[in-house]
Amino acid sequence: MDKLWGGRFKQDSSRLLEEFNASINFDKKLYKEDILGSKIHAEMLYKIGVLTQEEKNNIISGLNRAYQEIEDGDFDFKIQDEDIHMAVEKRLTQLIGDTAKKLHTARSRNDQVALDLRLYCRNKNKDIQDLLKKLITTLVEIARNHTDTIMPGMTHLQHAQPVSFAFHLLAYCFMYKRDFERLVDDYKRNNYSPLGSAAFAGTPYNIDRDFSAKQLGFNAPCQNATDGVSDRDFALDLLYGIAMIAMHTSRFAEELILWSSFEFRFITISDSFSTGSSIMPNKKNPDVAELLRGKTGRIYGNLISLLTTLKALPLAYNKDMQEDKEAIFDSVENILLCLRVLNEMLKEISINKDMMLQKARMGHITATDLADFLVQKKGISFRESHHIVGKIVAFAESKNCDISELSIEELQNQDNRITIDAKEVLDLSHSLNSRNSFGGTSQSQVKTQIEYLLKWINE
Ligand code: ARG
Repeated sequence: MDKLWGGRFKQDSSRLLEEFNASINFDKKLYKEDILGSKIHAEMLYKIGVLTQEEKNNIISGLNRAYQEIEDGDFDFKIQDEDIHMAVEKRLTQLIGDTAKKLHTARSRNDQVALDLRLYCRNKNKDIQDLLKKLITTLVEIARNHTDTIMPGMTHLQHAQPVSFAFHLLAYCFMYKRDFERLVDDYKRNNYSPLGSAAFAGTPYNIDRDFSAKQLGFNAPCQNATDGVSDRDFALDLLYGIAMIAMHTSRFAEELILWSSFEFRFITISDSFSTGSSIMPNKKNPDVAELLRGKTGRIYGNLISLLTTLKALPLAYNKDMQEDKEAIFDSVENILLCLRVLNEMLKEISINKDMMLQKARMGHITATDLADFLVQKKGISFRESHHIVGKIVAFAESKNCDISELSIEELQNQDNRITIDAKEVLDLSHSLNSRNSFGGTSQSQVKTQIEYLLKWINE
């Protein structure tokens, strides 16, 4: 029995158990965090007199070697070693001998894995933040050039009121900004070190948890050792944060797909971010945007998966918790990829201003403007003016034209209180710029939003 925990066992493990029990095939991704945690733990053990300086130095140089072997692809990961923690410790023992066996003093795999995962989530949280900021920067750059590009704003996917393309893109900037801030909050809330919780109840050694917490960049140690090893809220926070980003991205991706369709033709996605069909030579497909939309399914799944794993799980550590990792890795890796791809794809889209404008001329999109005009200039109540404009819309429909194309006489035939200045409010730019309330789509409001975002980006 050569297991690190094999003392009380008389029989060797079944091969089937080893396969079922092992996490090494996926948790080897945590080698950086694991080795860093071990080095700091060794420093702490030296500080409190458990290791001599020489022992500590041996351990650290052995860990550095194991790290290098993994980086170089020379490390032999074996299913018998169960997980990354035992694989590294075993290799360390081969490299430096018995001193390695002192490393696990005052530590358990329970606090070790909690630490590794916290470090991993913390690092990835920052990586996602960086990509979100880059994406927002790209969107703001595009928006800056399109404050006067008019497109049909929609509700129920029907033409509703004119907006600028910039205004529409900025809505996504504010979603992604909230996602960014959510990650910042998560980082702060979870930046506490479980190391030194040991199995779950603390340890009789006079350990210095503040020291190791500080060395690892945490605010402080977790206050309760059982919570330290049992808590995966930090991972759930990240999975939820990622799910929100994926949800926002799926809405955006859906619009990119619609806009690039023949029916809209608002944008053209570059060849380098489009794909073809194996049978239809004419096809150019928005696969990238579809995948961005499609990834949302697995990302929601990962959140539900971990929530369900933890549901009703008694304290403290249970092996169920080993099931946390693949969900976390999958969401993290996919969202990083999505954000990178979306950002690059956006830099290359072309925007068909003329088509947006042409489509904005359809659907009586300035009808609300005419109703507001009758209220503001003619003292008519909104309910009545709504009714009058409704009749005008029906008349235009019967003539198969847009209300903006009706003559002043035709308008007056519907209601004789309408005067010539009504024609102006049916103009698209006039309509856009009249929506100058805070947060509105007017050019001046949109510029304010852009300035606000630029200032935030450069903070
Ligand atoms: N591979 C385990 C995991 O991922 C490490 C912790 C094991 N602890 C234990 N008491 N069996 O959760």
